[in-house]
Amino acid sequence: MSIADRVPGVSEYGSVDPAPPSTESDISELRKTLLDEDTKMFERMRAVFSLRNNRSSQAVSALCEGFGASSALLRHELAYVLGQMQDNLAVPTLMQVLSNETEHVMVRHEAAEALGAIGDRTARPVLEKFLADPLPEVSESCEVALDLLSLCDEPTEIDW
Ligand SMILES: [Fe+2]
Repeated sequence: MSIADRVPGVSEYGSVDPAPPSTESDISELRKTLLDEDTKMFERMRAVFSLRNNRSSQAVSALCEGFGASSALLRHELAYVLGQMQDNLAVPTLMQVLSNETEHVMVRHEAAEALGAIGDRTARPVLEKFLADPLPEVSESCEVALDLLSLCDEPTEIDW
């Protein structure tokens, strides 16, 4: 295949990501890159996807720490990958992000959807609370997440 024909690959989660995972696999190095405000966004995102692919609890914790980043785009990406990882460890952080009314609407939307994707019922009260959020992006995401949790509670086999 010629270089001109090369297109971004599909991740092990079935998504085409905005950046390929970093070739670095050491979690503390990836964490450092993620948290470094002076590193280029592309490299920080590569660290995000490498941490996601690592799937360990330490990787989840590093991704949760990343919500201190100044970039709303990066914080939104963190919420997205935590939803993909479906690790309950991220639930308290995602509930905090959704509840923070000073957080960017795009990040809160993604946190709500991630809470639905993780499928932890402890998130139900906070999702119910923000059903009444004045921002439709937030309230609609909470509605979708709650419907997903309800669908998962139905006594039929999940096959999608
Ligand atoms: Fe989104």
